[in-house]
Amino acid sequence: MDRREFLGWVGVGAIASSLPVAIAACSRQNAKTDSSSDSARADGFAPVGTITDLDRQGQILNKEFDRGSILVIRNPSDPKNVNAVNPTCTHAGCTVSWDSDQKLFACPCHGSQFAPDGKVVQGPAEEPLTAYEAKLEGNIILAKKM
Ligand code: FES
Repeated sequence: MDRREFLGWVGVGAIASSLPVAIAACSRQNAKTDSSSDSARADGFAPVGTITDLDRQGQILNKEFDRGSILVIRNPSDPKNVNAVNPTCTHAGCTVSWDSDQKLFACPCHGSQFAPDGKVVQGPAEEPLTAYEAKLEGNIILAKKM
């Protein structure tokens, strides 16, 4: 075997040995992407978190829910239920957070405020936050797009 043949075989070996790693990386990425849709039940609801976590944290923010973001709070006018919205501000895309004292979603970027159901209370945002249908089953919080 001359030098040229040897280097050719080494190149083929390097490609062949890295192929399983590349396939595994792609498989893991696909599994992660598919898992969000696989978690939805036949009725379209998917678990977001637990009431225990919600009460401990005051809100649950999940940025990988159903290929979007979801923010869950206790409904301030009916604390036995929850409200869920997409926390992406409709003005310019910042992430709102729940202000439990004012009972509003507040945007840190330009001051927009939204009611617990997502409706605009104060601009500059003009469109409401996208609301999810949410419910409780025991300690589990479930939500789906409306
Ligand atoms: S991005 Fe929320 S008010 Fe501008």
